[in-house]
Amino acid sequence: MALLEARDIVSGYGDAEILHGVSMDVHEDEIVCIIGPNGAGKSTFMKAVFGLIDCWEGRVEFDGEEITEYRPDEITRTGMCYVPQTDNVFPNLTVRENLEMGAYILDEVPEQQVEELFDLFPVLDERRNQRAGAMSGGQRQMLAMARALMVDPGLMLVDEPSAGLAPDLVDMVFEKIVEVNETGTAILMVEQNARQALRNSDRGYVLEMGDNRFEDSGDALLENEEVAELYLGGGGDIE
Ligand SMILES: Nc1ncnc2c1ncn2[C@@H]1O[C@H](COP(=O)(O)OP(=O)(O)O)[C@@H](O)[C@H]1O
Ligand SMILES: [Mg+2]
Repeated sequence: MALLEARDIVSGYGDAEILHGVSMDVHEDEIVCIIGPNGAGKSTFMKAVFGLIDCWEGRVEFDGEEITEYRPDEITRTGMCYVPQTDNVFPNLTVRENLEMGAYILDEVPEQQVEELFDLFPVLDERRNQRAGAMSGGQRQMLAMARALMVDPGLMLVDEPSAGLAPDLVDMVFEKIVEVNETGTAILMVEQNARQALRNSDRGYVLEMGDNRFEDSGDALLENEEVAELYLGGGGDIE
């Protein structure tokens, strides 16, 4: 049984249907990535899964529990967290305070988890009392993930974690995602750095115009000529 099972999700904004029946699975301990052109509905799919927008049709199950109608805070309690692409830290709060906000559903701050996250993200450890707004883009992205991980989730949804970062920071973000995964948290990520994302993923999905287009192992998608041509900028693996 999959950890996350999203079946035939139809959703959108106002009258505009964006997702026309999208299905995805994430198994325990997997890294799964979603790629596809701008506007394909990748972020919309994540928002629908996490309860930020309604699913008009379809069904979402997490860890054997139907969560289709749950609010984000209820979903967080089931063990899933979400890192939006933008505005994912509180700029006026310190690193430590941002982490505390990540634990808002808990009665008290889980100090052991704080320390484990500082071990996983040394760059945050050094900056515990620094305001998030004063940190670099890469550091803020680390903080956004750490904040989401405060509840020790079984699955982290993360939307374009490497967006806007310089190449060496992109590498670092993927390394960290793999490290987070090694602590036992499954990952579902949306990525524009598609080749690199697929190389770091067990499986991938290609979305196009609100529909599933391809689904395979990361390696198989990288080797698929049609996928390479249409979604990976053509050519071979040049890096
Ligand atoms: N808040 C919103 N209100 C109305 N339309 C939106 C909103 N967010 C996204 N859309 C539209 O939904 C479609 C899919 O967007 P999105 O899921 O952000 O795509 P992707 O993440 O794949 O680039 C686009 O046509 C976009 O304009
Ligand atoms: Mg998006």
